[in-house]
Amino acid sequence: MKILVTGGAGYIGSHTTLALLEAGYEVVVLDNLCNSSDAALHAVEGICGKSALMIRGDVCDRALLDRIFQQHSIDAVLHFAGLKAVGESVRKPLEYYETNVSGSITLCQAMAAAGVFRLVFSSSATVYGEPEQMPIREDFPTGIPTNPYGQSKLIVENVLRDLSQAEPRWSIALLRYFNPIGAHDSGHMGEDPSGIPNNLLPYISQVAVGSLQELSVFGDDYPTADGTGVRDYIHVVDLADGHLKALQAIDGRTGIHTWNLGTGDGYSVMQVLRAFEQACGKPVPFRVMPRRSGDIAESWADASKAEKELGWKATRNLQDMVTDTWRWQSNHPNGYLE
Ligand code: NAD
Ligand code: UFG
Repeated sequence: MKILVTGGAGYIGSHTTLALLEAGYEVVVLDNLCNSSDAALHAVEGICGKSALMIRGDVCDRALLDRIFQQHSIDAVLHFAGLKAVGESVRKPLEYYETNVSGSITLCQAMAAAGVFRLVFSSSATVYGEPEQMPIREDFPTGIPTNPYGQSKLIVENVLRDLSQAEPRWSIALLRYFNPIGAHDSGHMGEDPSGIPNNLLPYISQVAVGSLQELSVFGDDYPTADGTGVRDYIHVVDLADGHLKALQAIDGRTGIHTWNLGTGDGYSVMQVLRAFEQACGKPVPFRVMPRRSGDIAESWADASKAEKELGWKATRNLQDMVTDTWRWQSNHPNGYLE
């Protein structure tokens, strides 16, 4: 079975490409490498001894997509390609809507033209906005995203919902990720953000490795146990496995299906920081700063639907996540660049 993985050189896409190859799938990656490098795919090959076919190009390029579907007998698409920096999306909304929304529409048009109707889409817990209660279930109403990135995910979810109504041949999985962190346990694949990281884990690990001076803890006055923000962190390898389970679950099952991919446990910024210090064996300097605009106090998943319907459950705990992150970061202080 042959799978097209858009954004397959990126953080989550590369870990999922590895999982697909290990499970015996053939993989074609389409990535324009705007936020990644093909070194991630070389690492995949080094780990499993198999390789994906890498095609460098843009998911908005309809002619290229048509050629890919003509040349390869693609059975299904995992669609990771997109831009994901919340702050940047506020400054560059058109780029975000073009890549994330137009890119997804162009991909669906090319898929339909080629008769490929099985799609797994990378959505985000951000579509829930600020729910009134925890844990978050899939049937909670979606919120009003506070930034173009979040909007783009919600728009694509709605487009895909309309599409599956209009054309019953589609089998679509919307996977709402909580907070993906961690790295492959080989220590040779992981998250390699360009520039200064926006997210907690890459920031902490770059402080620990000496590339950054100290972590800013954004707010310690939230209504949480220790006052810092609480999130549901999920190991990227568990997340990758969730994609394989979703891909199998929608085989022959039409319609649109939504699953949260999280662990069901929430940890505060300070808990993550302390766990990381244990993993790296040294203190990580931090300073409490004001809240970051747009952040919510807490967010964690009810992950029982995925367990029941996909037979999938995250198996790696917070200590595994920070230990694997540190192994990757200390082996590769400059990411894939060296
Ligand atoms: P990433 O930036 O590492 O991977 C995205 C990949 O898409 C990159 O390799 C990038 O080069 C590629 N890409 C971007 N624009 C493209 C285009 N126009 N054409 C072809 N390729 C393009 O990000 P990630 O963390 O692996 O995220 C993957 C997906 O999951 C994204 O859609 C993201 O929005 C979604 N997501 C991520 C998180 C998270 O916290 N990492 C949370 C929820 C959802
Ligand atoms: N935080 C800090 N300091 C930092 C970075 C983050 O204290 O330098 C805190 C945040 O305030 C928050 C927690 O750490 O309480 C997690 O923040 P992240 O930026 O790592 O993650 P978010 O929950 O803000 O956002 C992530 C993804 C978004 C996605 C969202 C919901 O980055 O793309 O989860 O799925 F939309």
